[in-house]
Amino acid sequence: MASNIYSDIVLDHFQHPRNVGVIPEADAIAAMESPVCGDLMEIYLDIEDGYIRDAKFRTFGCGAAIASSSMATEMVKGKSLAEALTLTDEDVARALGGLPEQKMHCSNLAASTIHKAIRQYLEKQGKAQTP
Ligand code: FES
Repeated sequence: MASNIYSDIVLDHFQHPRNVGVIPEADAIAAMESPVCGDLMEIYLDIEDGYIRDAKFRTFGCGAAIASSSMATEMVKGKSLAEALTLTDEDVARALGGLPEQKMHCSNLAASTIHKAIRQYLEKQGKAQTP
């Protein structure tokens, strides 16, 4: 499928999303609803020794949100929590070969939900950090 507004990378991650699903007994779970469109994203992280060993997602949203979730989970797997907290919506959009301006909030949802899961995890561990 070709598109005038989406890159081939976006289309690939939309049609073949990586890391879809849940992690039973995940160390960190977070859900967020987009304030822009109401779409919902859930993130599940498996964390060991301060590193993200696995990341999965479920997104009830648009194609750009699914592609962003897929890319964002790929980008944080194997990263330290501190590194994952620096992931921005622009990083996700850039890795996807760009997103149309009106779809940037979709990549923001992916990064924000990962940050929320990590912050909640760190708070539970008594290691709250600021990004
Ligand atoms: Fe809602 Fe993309 S339109 S996340």
